[in-house]
Amino acid sequence: ADYQLDGHPDYMRKEIAEQPEAMRRALMGRLDERFSTARLGGLRLEPRDLRSIRRVKFIGCGSAYYAGQIGANLVEELARIPADAEPASEFRYRNPVVDPDTLYVAVSQSGETADTLAAVQELARKGGRVIGAVNAVGSAIARECGSGVFLHAGPEVSVASTKAVTNMSTCFAMLALLLGRVRDLSVADGRRIVAGLVALPSRIEEVIAQDEHIADAARRFSAARHMFFVGRVRGWPVAREGAQKLKEISYVHAEAYQAGELKHGPIALIDGDMPSVVIVPDDELLAKNIGTIEQIKARGGPVIAVTNADLPAGLADIELRVPRTEPELDPILFGIPLQLLAYHLATVLGRDIDKPRNLAKSVTVE
Ligand code: G6P
Repeated sequence: ADYQLDGHPDYMRKEIAEQPEAMRRALMGRLDERFSTARLGGLRLEPRDLRSIRRVKFIGCGSAYYAGQIGANLVEELARIPADAEPASEFRYRNPVVDPDTLYVAVSQSGETADTLAAVQELARKGGRVIGAVNAVGSAIARECGSGVFLHAGPEVSVASTKAVTNMSTCFAMLALLLGRVRDLSVADGRRIVAGLVALPSRIEEVIAQDEHIADAARRFSAARHMFFVGRVRGWPVAREGAQKLKEISYVHAEAYQAGELKHGPIALIDGDMPSVVIVPDDELLAKNIGTIEQIKARGGPVIAVTNADLPAGLADIELRVPRTEPELDPILFGIPLQLLAYHLATVLGRDIDKPRNLAKSVTVE
């Protein structure tokens, strides 16, 4: 009741705007600038325990699963520990092999999602080491896990999750940093990631300041019935979450593909009525992603490039600019313009932003 709109048209809008302060809360007291690492006391894991982890697996549902995929990439990149993400609904029903050397991370905004809770209970029965990455303190998943990292996003009302998913990947960057710094990650790289994280909230403010430009892009493509979201490696879970947001609140059919897979089927669907949102970070895969845009353009497909690179003039029909951060942290920042794109498309189409049809904020039954 004391969490109100404060002049915002809806909760999604308010929660998008709150992301810089929500992220500052998640980072507060958790970055160790002296030793270039993270301090996550809630994990209850000593350096010895951290070093014994041979694999990391993130489990969650919906946006929490996609955030887990960003987390898995971060853990592999910064700690060089094999990591992946899996939907909790699949994990619980396939009689998973529970490995004592794996750290399982249960990811949930509400802490009440039935599939995620059941996965945690199954892990507990089989002796798996499971920690929570949960927003709601005192929730069922937080209690069942007993240890973990709270997201500190504050209350989230909009069904489409924004500040909670941003804090999920932010917390996973800190987890990956910590796992990396008790292994091979250098002081210099640790320092680079710490500085990148400290600067991230103000980078988000810079994205939000481009709201009008993103709204223009949404108006320009408001007639599209279908859209592709395309990314590779770091950009792939970003594309999946972007497509998810668009589907949830605008009901426009959105499909995410790995850039390299486009040519193996989906490219047959590209024409002037099928816009593609392409994630183009300025990293070692830039040339590959430019090639992907060229392939789409050659088939007449309109392209919205989400980028922090200097793309050849006229390559994309529209550019949504993202400020620079450390390349490993790009996926956290690249999610923000996609939230705004989905938001504005849904607004143009007159949708009920906070209460999309057929969806619930948290799915506590099967
Ligand atoms: C529901 C919501 C999604 C959310 C998912 C997981 O399906 O509509 O937006 O990502 O549950 O919720 P959780 O609370 O576990 O993060």
